[in-house]
Amino acid sequence: MSTSPFDFTGRHLFVAGGSSGINFGIAQAFARAGARVSLISRSADKVATAAAQLQALGIEALGIAADVRQPEAVERALGEAHGRFGPIDVLVSGAAGNFLAHALDMSPNAFKTVVDIDLLGSFNVARLAHAHLRKPGASIIQISAGQSFTPTPYQAHVCAAKAGVDMLTRVLAAEWGAEGIRINSIVPGPIADTEGIRRLAPTQQTLDDMALRVPLKRMGRVEDIARMALFLASDWGAYITGALIPVDGGLALTGPRDFSAAAAASSKAHA
Ligand code: HXC
Ligand code: NAP
Repeated sequence: MSTSPFDFTGRHLFVAGGSSGINFGIAQAFARAGARVSLISRSADKVATAAAQLQALGIEALGIAADVRQPEAVERALGEAHGRFGPIDVLVSGAAGNFLAHALDMSPNAFKTVVDIDLLGSFNVARLAHAHLRKPGASIIQISAGQSFTPTPYQAHVCAAKAGVDMLTRVLAAEWGAEGIRINSIVPGPIADTEGIRRLAPTQQTLDDMALRVPLKRMGRVEDIARMALFLASDWGAYITGALIPVDGGLALTGPRDFSAAAAASSKAHA
């Protein structure tokens, strides 16, 4: 009898930005599949609570406070995680920030902040993790967004950053493939009950409008993304690298979105 391709018993998953939302959902899915999990995020409390929730599933988990914009902190965290659980088999890189703002209302620092977290942060994580990856065999999964393909008003920073993330995926796939390292981007659609959606659809009306825009006529679920991550990291994904994979109910087939109503309604609107 063959073992399940989705049995990750004893494998080491490292998640950057892993303390909440989609990335934490991915961590939970791998934990249920037997993996040992290391998480990093900025908030020490948040990441410790998340690690404790994984330990309650009966697996080993570690939560370390580190900001992906600070290479020394990322390096320290990777070293600690490697020392504890061995080489990293699966690296999920999904730390990100977002807010709705018209480009003319974005200061240079506002634009730079999102680019620094999403793009430079992904570069820091992948580059510094390289020394800690299992070679051959490691799988890197970047968490992108539809803004990477779709020019989206009020999202100039995220569009630029995630397009960069996806190009980084393709370049590193070409550079690191010979070492047996695969790297792919998952491109989620709108995922219910996440901070990302709370920021982009702050009212019931904007949420309903968003779900209706999706060809499959529903919001995504965290499990939709977690299942793709399990697939990509498994042997069933062994010949996939440099791919940008929408898991979005078909949203990429539609045109640019209009966030002006959401921006107007957003309680987080910046003065
Ligand atoms: C205009 C804004 C702003 C807003 C912040 N800024 N919010 N500008 N409109 N609504 C500006 C600030 O004034 C400042 O510029 C600069 O951005 C940095 O702000 P800080 O608060 O100092 O940054 P920091 O503490 O590093 O926090 C980063 C953050 C924050 C991105 C601003 O929101 C955050 O920590 N987010 C993490 C959680 C998150 O966003 N999750 C959703 C991910 S979803 P000045 O010039 O004043 O110094 C996602 C998109 C996916 O990524 C798509 C979903 C469909
Ligand atoms: P979320 O819960 O806010 O997740 C972001 C995570 O990143 C948190 O754990 C956060 O924890 C961490 N983080 C933020 N800045 C960081 C930094 N500088 N260094 C280290 N960690 C940092 O949001 P989400 O909506 O689930 O989004 C998760 C990922 O999915 C993101 O990459 C996002 O772009 C992508 N995505 C989301 C959607 C959606 O519908 N939600 C759609 C498309 C793509 P701390 O606050 O503790 O740092």
